[in-house]
Amino acid sequence: MNKLNHVAFIMDGNGRWGKKKNKSRNYGHLKGVETVKKIVKSSIKLKIPIVSFYVFSSENWKRPQKEISFLFRLIDNYFSKEIKSVIQQGIKVNILGDLSKLGKKINSSLKNSMKLTKNNKKIIVNLAINYGSKNEILRAFKKTKNLNLKNFEKNLYTQNMANPDILIRTGGHQRLSNFMLWQLAYAELFFLKKLWPDFNSNDLKKITKKYKSSKRNFGAV
Ligand code: IPE
Ligand code: IPE
Ligand code: MG
Repeated sequence: MNKLNHVAFIMDGNGRWGKKKNKSRNYGHLKGVETVKKIVKSSIKLKIPIVSFYVFSSENWKRPQKEISFLFRLIDNYFSKEIKSVIQQGIKVNILGDLSKLGKKINSSLKNSMKLTKNNKKIIVNLAINYGSKNEILRAFKKTKNLNLKNFEKNLYTQNMANPDILIRTGGHQRLSNFMLWQLAYAELFFLKKLWPDFNSNDLKKITKKYKSSKRNFGAV
């Protein structure tokens, strides 16, 4: 049976979900946050040590300003309203991405959440915000003095963390959209037609079960 250390999510399809319900794209994002909360709870139950969510890509700045502001308001609200519950659940929050380009308020609220949760042990929740994998890799190259694999990986946003064993992308597209290109080298990939707000604990459970009995070779036979 394969050990499961880390599950990464590309949570795609919020906008389409909102439209499908005859509402706005932003309504889909609102529902998407509820799914994140549920999936974190299930991940704790399933004893998954690390989960990563792609929240906002470095390319998502191309979206309409109204949608961008809504997304950052959602993130901000989440941390101001839910931080107590996050701490109670034993969640260690870790932000991956370039925070320097974000507004002052959101920047300090994200840093504060990391500080307040840094000793929590139940689960690590990585949130990729203003994250782009190509930039992450370039940044790590620039930062690494004695260039070897170990030193290089320490300079990725994921630092010494175990790489994702599973990548799940909802929303029907089979692409990585600049997410964890380095870290996903040997991940098992799961692409679902379901839109992110419809993704549920049962879907996660089924995938982890399938993963556990899959044959991982890492190049060997
Ligand atoms: C959510 O899905 C991903 C984010 C960027 C927050 P989308 O907003 O990309 O939804 P679709 O793919 O347009 O339906
Ligand atoms: C990927 O979704 C980014 C996030 C989930 C944050 P996108 O909707 O931005 O991806 P593309 O543009 O369809 O590849
Ligand atoms: Mg999308």
